[in-house]
Amino acid sequence: MLPKFSSQAFLAPMAGVSDPALRLQCKKLGAGLVVTEFTNIHSIVAKEQQLKENQKTIQEFIEYSEGERPLSVQLFGSDLTALEKAAKIVEPFFDIIDYNMGCPAPHVTKQMAGGALLQEANLTQQIFSTLVNAVKKPVTLKIRLGVTEASRYLFKDIAQIAEDEGIEMITLHPRTVNQGYSGNADWTMIKQLKEISNIPIVGNGDITTPEDAKTMIDETNCDYVMVGRGAMGNPFLFEQIDDYLKTGTYNQYSFKNRLDSFFEYLHLTEKYKIKFANIKGQAMRFTKGINGGSKIRSKITLSKNITELEKIMKEAYHQ
Ligand SMILES: Cc1cc2nc3c(=O)[nH]c(=O)nc-3n(C[C@H](O)[C@H](O)[C@H](O)COP(=O)(O)O)c2cc1C
Repeated sequence: MLPKFSSQAFLAPMAGVSDPALRLQCKKLGAGLVVTEFTNIHSIVAKEQQLKENQKTIQEFIEYSEGERPLSVQLFGSDLTALEKAAKIVEPFFDIIDYNMGCPAPHVTKQMAGGALLQEANLTQQIFSTLVNAVKKPVTLKIRLGVTEASRYLFKDIAQIAEDEGIEMITLHPRTVNQGYSGNADWTMIKQLKEISNIPIVGNGDITTPEDAKTMIDETNCDYVMVGRGAMGNPFLFEQIDDYLKTGTYNQYSFKNRLDSFFEYLHLTEKYKIKFANIKGQAMRFTKGINGGSKIRSKITLSKNITELEKIMKEAYHQ
């Protein structure tokens, strides 16, 4: 059974972005669910073996904190043996196991994983059945529409298979794999999925304001919304969406607030092994739209360590 979610707005899994520090920050600001960056099932199996030898658990590899709960772990990869093993390894630590069938990156689709699976109904059915039978925790799914424009309705068949196999919730990012991030997310497809589904549907794609979130819910009848790029460098969006859905109004935040929240993020990163390049990426996003932002961002690019980065971000208060 799915856990209870404190809000209708979820943080999307984003590789290199939705690290444990950003997830915790979004959670504190009201995200109903946060999802780890996608993780390769083969890496989980290999890592666990190494970690076991040192009496450590997979938490060393997929870092998180209790404050993030309910917490979903996202897996990708289609080898059924590795999938079963990986699911069993992560199960004790997470509340939901999410399966990625949307990633358009060639290094993922080439290994018959991510979005490429949308055109493989048989394998997909085996994947869902393997996952659902391997664990007692709820299994959820994240998909795109299809692979090509001609196959943009594949999601309907996949959703049916998923439901039949016991998947408990589906997130739809309504673009095709070939679209990447171009064009607009077609929210009418979320409405169509909701109409044929008996499990909760999470609408995703192009939400950048509280108004967008409400419009998606009103137009598609989806149960939850998931926000990715709109929350980058702007974790306040979760509080704003929650408030707007409940009261019709929300607080505005200044650039100073955004910079404060970057330093809060930076403080949270101290507990984890987050790559410096990823932290720099976050700093860039927290300065989006700030006066003189592009100048700040070129300095950020050149920074070599946290101390240098902190200095640049402190200077940004005086822009
Ligand atoms: C930098 C980046 C990394 C992403 N990584 C993942 C991922 O690991 N797993 C996944 O299912 N989707 C991933 N996505 C897709 C997002 O979860 C989401 O579906 C997509 O960005 C559309 O939502 P948005 O318009 O709110 O950003 C990623 C997107 C971005 C921009």
